[in-house]
Amino acid sequence: MKNFISVHDVSNINSLVKKALSYKAHPFKDRNLGADKRIGLLFLNPSLRTRLSTQVAAKNLGMEAIVFNVDKEGWALEFEEGAIMSGNTVEHVKDAAPILGQYFDILCIRTFPGLKNREDDYSEMFIHQFIKYAGVPVISLESATLHPLQSLTDIITIQETWHQPRRPKIVLTWAPHIKPLPQCVSNSFAQWVNAWGEADFVITHPVDYELAEQFTKGATITNNQDEALKDADYVYVKNWSTYTDYGKVYENDPNWMLTEEKMKLTNQAKVMHCLPVRRNVELSDEILDGPHSLVTREAGNRVWAAQAVIASILEQSK
Ligand code: CP
Repeated sequence: MKNFISVHDVSNINSLVKKALSYKAHPFKDRNLGADKRIGLLFLNPSLRTRLSTQVAAKNLGMEAIVFNVDKEGWALEFEEGAIMSGNTVEHVKDAAPILGQYFDILCIRTFPGLKNREDDYSEMFIHQFIKYAGVPVISLESATLHPLQSLTDIITIQETWHQPRRPKIVLTWAPHIKPLPQCVSNSFAQWVNAWGEADFVITHPVDYELAEQFTKGATITNNQDEALKDADYVYVKNWSTYTDYGKVYENDPNWMLTEEKMKLTNQAKVMHCLPVRRNVELSDEILDGPHSLVTREAGNRVWAAQAVIASILEQSK
């Protein structure tokens, strides 16, 4: 694996999941793989799970992890080629990234979308510019449109909790939220479940909340949440803002919040969410604190996903 910015960087999803679960069983079995190597974690946006799980994963492999909160402590970066930098940006990525590439063996970056201009966000310029200029492998810690470490974690969590011979039915459902949120987690989850190909996959959302077809193609899509939830084995709950009329919240219909009553439609489904979650807005207390919630296990698995990805890159660059 050279970089890790989407499912397209993975040659075999099941092998990567197996590798992650082997680290879950034996966290320190490759404690020398990253000896004398450094990983840089650049954050242009906040994080709890991604930041800490990636540091723990790197440490398990013997690497030194250095975190840099670029948004708070760094110079404001410019990403446009040929920009006349007479505004707020102070340093161009083509100057900063090669330096970071000398300091680190692997560079990890979190950059959220602006949610103002769809073409800008969906061009993924920030992460592509780091890949172009850093000269070392780049791992996405969530970009403008995708969150691949989260999605790998989600497939790991589904695989380790599914013990039946048939394919699981997985439902991705939109949930209410007070703010316009990126489409990254939902795009990415759809991309990975479709690429994995070992589940019946349904996406449900209100009218006008369609996700980009490049990620959802292959899934069944419905605006009827009850119909979608019928016989579901896993329900993945996530809010996202509009894609077509970009970055808007049209409605915040509380009826879309998953409740125990709605869960009766499912096959005693397990409930997933990437966190952070707005309790009793996106998901009810009764579900989050109940026996069907996988959210804590899911967040715990972030370490093993990150460890499998970092190890795959280290092995390739040996
Ligand atoms: N799920 C996730 O990426 O969490 P953080 O934003 O806390 O990293």
